[in-house]
Amino acid sequence: MLIDTHCHISDEDYENKEEIIKHMENNIMIVSTASPKDIKEVIDLCEKHKNIYGTIGIHPEFANTYTIDDLNKIEKYLTHSKIVGIGEIGLDYHYTKENKEKQKELFIKQIKLADKYKKTIVIHSRDAIEDTYNIIKQYKNKKTKCNMHCFSGSLEMAERFVNLGVTLGIGGVLTFKNEKKLKEIVTTLDIHNFVLETDSPYLTPEPLRGKKNEPKNVQLVAAKISQLTGIKYAKIVEITSQTAIRQFDLKL
Ligand code: NI
Repeated sequence: MLIDTHCHISDEDYENKEEIIKHMENNIMIVSTASPKDIKEVIDLCEKHKNIYGTIGIHPEFANTYTIDDLNKIEKYLTHSKIVGIGEIGLDYHYTKENKEKQKELFIKQIKLADKYKKTIVIHSRDAIEDTYNIIKQYKNKKTKCNMHCFSGSLEMAERFVNLGVTLGIGGVLTFKNEKKLKEIVTTLDIHNFVLETDSPYLTPEPLRGKKNEPKNVQLVAAKISQLTGIKYAKIVEITSQTAIRQFDLKL
């Protein structure tokens, strides 16, 4: 059983949403909001499909535009039995550096919500890894679980996050020909620190790059980890799924 720990499946992304979900029969998906307007759609998916869980949160891209109503809605649904985390949340200085303080404030607010409702934090961090690390270290309750979605830092940074008990989401980027850092991380750190993800509909793995991604391609990520580490494919699937079940407290 494969677990895609981070994907987006909305009507906006796929015309054939139900077909995409069917491709993951007997496997599990954790669907994430990309924008506050997706909350309802994520809840609906979770309620309709046994093998779909969700995380909801306000992406840093919306640090200037989110409303208190959005935050209240997130708080309300964090008690839903199939909402297993808050995310994706974090810092994105690639998109803009001009509202760093606002982004941090929103990030910290949501970390506190995760602590309050004992939900896993799913982090989006782009060109902001040092600040992300410092906020997690300073504000996250030690018991609150945390996952770095689509990890893209150095080996040294990966080790620092792992030392805080954070799991690293490994996705299609690992299969890209010119990607070196992530390959070094995957072959150096213990694979118990990794969970698999696709970030569908983005970041399609090789050899499908250029096409729209979908959760079933998570198997290509597992295959690449197997190829790079020499550990059997079935073992990669088993260990990463166990880590995901533990990290998101999935009640299967
Ligand atoms: Ni994402």
